[in-house]
Amino acid sequence: MSINVKVELSWADYRDMGTALKLKLIHSGKVRDLYVLGDPEEKLLLMVASDRVSAFDVVMAEEIRDKGKVLTAMAEFWFDYLGDRIPNHIVAANPTLKDLGEELPDEFQGRAMLVREAEMLPIECIVRGYLAGSALKEYQKSQTVHGQKIPHGMTGGMRFPEPLFTPSTKAESGHDVNISFDAAARIVGAETAAKVRDMSIQIYDIGARKAEEAGVIIADTKFEFGIIDGEVALCDEVLTPDSSRIWEASELLAGGEPTAYDKQPLRDWLESVGWNKMPPPPSLPVAVQESLRNRYIAVYERISGREFLS
Ligand SMILES: Nc1ncnc2c1ncn2[C@@H]1O[C@H](COP(=O)(O)OP(=O)(O)OP(=O)(O)O)[C@@H](O)[C@H]1O
Ligand SMILES: [Mg+2]
Repeated sequence: MSINVKVELSWADYRDMGTALKLKLIHSGKVRDLYVLGDPEEKLLLMVASDRVSAFDVVMAEEIRDKGKVLTAMAEFWFDYLGDRIPNHIVAANPTLKDLGEELPDEFQGRAMLVREAEMLPIECIVRGYLAGSALKEYQKSQTVHGQKIPHGMTGGMRFPEPLFTPSTKAESGHDVNISFDAAARIVGAETAAKVRDMSIQIYDIGARKAEEAGVIIADTKFEFGIIDGEVALCDEVLTPDSSRIWEASELLAGGEPTAYDKQPLRDWLESVGWNKMPPPPSLPVAVQESLRNRYIAVYERISGREFLS
């Protein structure tokens, strides 16, 4: 599929501008669409975050208004905050006419990032600061997390003595599978595995500290890395409510179930209605949609200190 924008411009106008924005959709993920920008040899992609939401690897029929914009703003904040400390794929987090040689289509405004195309590593780099989710389930069964032995007597919501690097496979379809560090090293090579482990822990440490200043806890999060010009670079999104579990710190400290600024309320609702996690998903009540939207905006505003402008 190819999308030609600014149809009112003639091809001569495009030629004059040198770099016509001719977008070719090459991948549509659960949330993001990737377009090749211009000449494929330049290896530039336009990554556009939609308002789609998935849970248990199924995309819901309803969209969450503005979600793609919040995710893009949040990722932009973090890429900027991490700066040169972590090599990344960003060319322009908020691409302008100057970056693109053309105006962005209106419907992509606030959702698009211009990135370098990477050879994505086929693992997901998860860091866990707190025991939750699939790690909690495994721990309750076997006292391990991704095969690693963990201190006895932990319960859900407890902090690990040190953040853990707990990779998973990146399934083309279906569910990712939690794996050990050694298994990840067999997939991407020992040197690359060690590198992404160290970078993942570093990003988590920086992000978790910043979030704590805003009174929220990043309990766990997932990163994706790729190879650009032979070097490992942070790609995809970073430290967003789609890729992380984010909790209200004061409520966790008080010993209660903390408010979750992530997809957990959606997962909880889907489980409460007894959905079997196979398509088609149940349709989401407006209250569930709005609650998710408000949480995403709230956590973006708290961590970034910026106002969300839709
Ligand atoms: N710089 C990059 N170069 C190439 N691919 C990238 C880059 N950054 C992110 N990606 C890929 O773009 C896709 C983003 O789409 P999205 O986040 O919707 O995917 P997903 O649903 O999580 O997974 P999938 O794409 O497997 O469906 C991911 O497959 C991700 O690996
Ligand atoms: Mg993704």
